[in-house]
Amino acid sequence: MKKPEPSKFKGKALLKGKKCVVTGGALGIGAQICYTFAENEAEVIILDFNREAAENTKSFITSAIENSKVHFVQADVSDRAGLKKSFDRIASIFDGSIDVFVNNVGIIQPCRIEDIISDEESKTFDRIIDVNIKGTYYCAAYAYPLLVKGVDPVFILIGSCASVGSEGQGGYAGLIEPDYLEKTAITQEKQYWLDLANARRTTVDKISDETVARTKVPLKREARLTEISEVVMFYALSTYLNGEALSVSGGKTMRL
Ligand SMILES: NC(=O)c1ccc[n+]([C@@H]2O[C@H](COP(=O)([O-])OP(=O)(O)OC[C@H]3O[C@@H](n4cnc5c(N)ncnc54)[C@H](O)[C@@H]3O)[C@@H](O)[C@H]2O)c1
Repeated sequence: MKKPEPSKFKGKALLKGKKCVVTGGALGIGAQICYTFAENEAEVIILDFNREAAENTKSFITSAIENSKVHFVQADVSDRAGLKKSFDRIASIFDGSIDVFVNNVGIIQPCRIEDIISDEESKTFDRIIDVNIKGTYYCAAYAYPLLVKGVDPVFILIGSCASVGSEGQGGYAGLIEPDYLEKTAITQEKQYWLDLANARRTTVDKISDETVARTKVPLKREARLTEISEVVMFYALSTYLNGEALSVSGGKTMRL
């Protein structure tokens, strides 16, 4: 698994003293956001259900960035009742307030709209709704009373360019919207690509992010994870940006 790396905002202390929570911060985009925040002197809580990965990321960041403060709180964002305990922990670590909350958890499971009514695919769809939709609302509801006590509080949602069209992803489609990316935990899995190819009625070699980015993205390459975390930094620092979605797609979703 690729490790997070320095961003172009490294060492600028843009989030000095800010209390930040990143859901799904153990791996992939979330881990990179935690790293970018920590190198800007934020205090970060990784909220994730994968203890081992979260502890590894926490150790990696604290050893790579001097004086960084990273905590881990375990939670499954789809567990409405269980989240209460996790947010009580967050409140105690952060002394009752949050400044920046990044709702990054999202599962990507191929699922065509017309297949959702089958017994098998309905289970996939239920899980997507439980984690991506309900989990987001649960986190927003639990974070709200802490955010209102924060300094210039910000709630950032990571969505996907799948919201403006991605064949075979009908059941998953949210607001920073990344598109073709360097591999993360989910897109590293062979099964994910087999399922996506199956949903698109095609073969894996035709749909890899690398291949598609070269043909459909004007910049002709996948995004680096730092290119997403740098946009998240911009949102984290904005005090009058509200309710706007931004596609980070190398131009694939440009409306010309
Ligand atoms: N990777 C991509 O190509 C891509 C493209 C567009 C959008 N996105 C979006 O970016 C976000 C992050 O994606 P990623 O590729 O880094 O994912 P990832 O699978 O690499 O990492 C997801 C993280 O979320 C955690 N997680 C998953 N379900 C959870 C749950 N129920 N409760 C708590 N933690 C949970 C995992 O343990 C992991 O640490 C998602 O919202 C995804 O939809 C990703």
